[in-house]
Amino acid sequence: MRGFNFKMTAFGKILCAGALSLALAGALAAAQPAAHPIPRLVQKDGRYALLVDNAPFLILGAQSNNSSAWSFTLPEVWRAIDELHANTLETPIYWEQFEPQPGHFDYSVLDDIVKQARQHHVHLVFLWFGTWKNGSQHYMPVWMKLHPQRYTHAVDADGRPVDSPSPFCKASLDADIHAFTALMRHLRQTDPQRTVIMVQVENETGLYGPALRDHSAEAQKLFNSAVPADVLNAMGKTDVSPGATWRQAFGDLADVDFGAWSIARYVQQVAAAGKAAYPLPLYVNAALRDPTKPEFPVTYESGGPTDNVIPIWKAIAPAIDLIAPDIYFSDSKRYLKVLDLYGRPGNALFVPETIGFGDAARFAFSVIGHGAIGYSPFGLDYTRAPFRLPGAASGSRPDFLFPTAQNYRLLEPMMRVIARLNFEGKVQAVAELRGQPKQTLDFGPWHVIVSYGAFRNRVAKGNRQPIGRALVAQLGPNEFLVTGLYSRVDFESADPSRHRQYLAVEQGSYRKGIFHFERILNGDQTDWGLNFGSEPLVLHVSVATY
Ligand code: DGJ
Repeated sequence: MRGFNFKMTAFGKILCAGALSLALAGALAAAQPAAHPIPRLVQKDGRYALLVDNAPFLILGAQSNNSSAWSFTLPEVWRAIDELHANTLETPIYWEQFEPQPGHFDYSVLDDIVKQARQHHVHLVFLWFGTWKNGSQHYMPVWMKLHPQRYTHAVDADGRPVDSPSPFCKASLDADIHAFTALMRHLRQTDPQRTVIMVQVENETGLYGPALRDHSAEAQKLFNSAVPADVLNAMGKTDVSPGATWRQAFGDLADVDFGAWSIARYVQQVAAAGKAAYPLPLYVNAALRDPTKPEFPVTYESGGPTDNVIPIWKAIAPAIDLIAPDIYFSDSKRYLKVLDLYGRPGNALFVPETIGFGDAARFAFSVIGHGAIGYSPFGLDYTRAPFRLPGAASGSRPDFLFPTAQNYRLLEPMMRVIARLNFEGKVQAVAELRGQPKQTLDFGPWHVIVSYGAFRNRVAKGNRQPIGRALVAQLGPNEFLVTGLYSRVDFESADPSRHRQYLAVEQGSYRKGIFHFERILNGDQTDWGLNFGSEPLVLHVSVATY
């Protein structure tokens, strides 16, 4: 019966901790009379939580392909979302569809998506494809595209228009504010269920190519004027004399910093207007620069919220709740570096786009281990044009969903528990690093050893592909929630004179945030550590020393 007793003890603690954070969330929500309070981002001791229905929520999402948010293609999106066990769909609202004529808004597609999301029991993050989409203005309505002299492009140093909008164009800004406000107002009016939990303002703002920034007359005038004091402060330029121009203050990086300032200023006005209509959490996403390379020469999308200009964006765009990295690196060095750079003090970490297939899917655990409020790979739906060479065996369409589905089948049933424990600073989660078969997690008196490719008592060699992942959360002084895939987890006392013993290793599963005991593991299942394979396995573990 010891297992049963332990289960009650551990469970009691979960309830207790849960009650505490619910009380905290409740206090924060006291001003919200609605049955479903507006989702919001909260911060405590430098950690963040996205509160949905008043409790921390972990976005385990998928972002649709760019042209999938149409009633015609939605069935192919939902099929993937259901197979993935995702709890959130990120999908665009296209300005060109939303405002086909100036001032005439078409809510039909938006309403369809919201209705269908409710039927599929998932939340939504809408992506406002407004003035910027991947640095261009391709989603502006036709009535804007036909009048480039009114809705102007950025121009290069020779005055030639480039494939990017001007952040100094007042007509575009006013139109974007008008449309985005209509979108947010409509959500406030039609979504008391809070199906939509967050909105992305624009998409990967910035400018690709050698122009680096807008050189229009207005831009040039400001570029050759004094840098605003808030920008100097944000960038720690305390040694710059007052009145210094952008070039004088920032040298080679003046174009990038000026671009960031000008775009952040524009986005701030769009976001602030939308937020005034409906204060949902808002974020911007970044097309990253390679964080292992120097900032100059500039080989990245310039002016967007790349890591080197985050302070400018933070200072100039306070209506934006967080700045999110779109991570398309597949190596752990750059991936983990980006998590450090964006999970910085003052910025909640959220990965709204990343690679969700192959061994890169293991980084979902690194993202959670960095305290993120959510993770959402890009392009996980069935709308892609099938590509199969004549005569080849039937394609592997479902395979691209499998690694993320594995993550979500395991994590989604306990996502509220993980989100709460992460907000309390009790979670550590890691992904396997190529050529490194062992990692150690420090839980004070306990060292948790995660190893990969281990078999019985043989030395761990690493998996053939780096696909291992593990998550450990502290439930009590000597009690832990342990889970993972393709890994082994074991405990060592930090005191080398003491040996660890397992008191109970309970296997169970979470349903609605509650751990349901199934059996106790012992013998071969625990003698060399706790082993995780390809199927969901969740353990509550109690350890002691002798
Ligand atoms: C980043 C963009 O934000 C997405 O909309 C999409 O275009 C992806 N790149 C990949 O194609």
